[in-house]
Amino acid sequence: MNPENLRVNGKRLQQTLEDMAKIGATPAGGVQRLTLTDEDKAARDLFVQWLKELNLEITIDEMGNIFGKRAGKNNALTPVLSGSHIDSQPKGGRFDGTLGVMTVLEVLRTLDENDIRTERPLVIVDWTNEEGSRFAPAMVSSGVWAGALDRDWAYDRTDINGIRFEDELIRIGYKGAAPAKKWPLHTYYELHIEQGPMLEREHKIIGAPKGILCLHWYDVYLEGEANQVGPTPMEGRHDALCAAAEMILKVNALPERMGGNMVATVGEIQNYPNSRNIIPDKVHFTVDIRSWDDDLAINAWNLLRKDFESLAQARGCPIRIEETWRVEHSPFDKNLVQRVLDNADMLGYPSLYMISGAGHDASYMNQIAPAAMIFVPSIGGRSHVEVENTEWKDCEAGANVLLHSMLQSADEK
Ligand code: GLV
Ligand code: MN
Ligand code: MN
Repeated sequence: MNPENLRVNGKRLQQTLEDMAKIGATPAGGVQRLTLTDEDKAARDLFVQWLKELNLEITIDEMGNIFGKRAGKNNALTPVLSGSHIDSQPKGGRFDGTLGVMTVLEVLRTLDENDIRTERPLVIVDWTNEEGSRFAPAMVSSGVWAGALDRDWAYDRTDINGIRFEDELIRIGYKGAAPAKKWPLHTYYELHIEQGPMLEREHKIIGAPKGILCLHWYDVYLEGEANQVGPTPMEGRHDALCAAAEMILKVNALPERMGGNMVATVGEIQNYPNSRNIIPDKVHFTVDIRSWDDDLAINAWNLLRKDFESLAQARGCPIRIEETWRVEHSPFDKNLVQRVLDNADMLGYPSLYMISGAGHDASYMNQIAPAAMIFVPSIGGRSHVEVENTEWKDCEAGANVLLHSMLQSADEK
């Protein structure tokens, strides 16, 4: 067969995604598979079973990253790696991350049934804790694997209940023996839902992002003075939640103040003791700043930090700020991005050159190897929500672009 005529099996891909979506399924059609929970373990167990059925060489590393290697004709050559994550947001969607792992599985199944052996080995990966929702930061295990983040720092990250990352990794049985350390790669591809409205708006099926915005995460802790709300006069209060409220609005106004080209969000807040008749004495909230321009994001933060300090002082609420995580903006390999566009063209799918506002493990992979991503449309531009959805035919189209992109890379000398 002319290799250009090769296609994945869309029905099988759909079935695989539907089987995976049963694990942690939520009533409104999403999934809740927070990293290193029992649901994440169940999803991993199913994934490993599928890798075994393909006779892949399975490696689980000390961050719980799961790799499955398909031998090439020449195993001395560096492999082509592709994958994403199967953990989810709380009340997240069925496609975020999972699609990027299951499409690689479908590519490998397609190659097996067509007796195709590539020159280079192919490796599928499920990265641990891409979401960073239970344990901050996001993309932590690809970050450790790439050498950008420290393993022991990652192990000591705790969730909202004080449970350690490493302890949960051990508890679910996925702390592997292999070092979480990069090995030489030929290329990295990651297929993902777009998570935004552009493809749908432009009536395109495939997106080829030129890269990913920088992501900067901060944690803010405020101390106030608790007291009974009735007898305590308004003047002289030290209300940590009011201080936080003023700060949160500053975050929301930051992009406009900086002249655009960035987004800034407070997505998480904990208020203590969280009783309607006690003045709050402790608040924690997060700040997420993203831009293509790393300097702009840092300058914005420096301004914001000063505002936070003076607002805290005015309310008499001591503040502690943790600069939790920064990953630089990530411009992908131009040739690989072009390859994605060319393959979309060859397969007859209209495509769009764009940008990724969402973070992906591809950011860290791009620091160590040529990398590119393939996007497919998100219906209504919605994601990180239960109604997140993508047409099955678009999942299939993305998988076909991935198939040909991986094949071309894997046959490069
Ligand atoms: C990852 O899901 C992100 O926050 O973009
Ligand atoms: Mn994702
Ligand atoms: Mn996500």
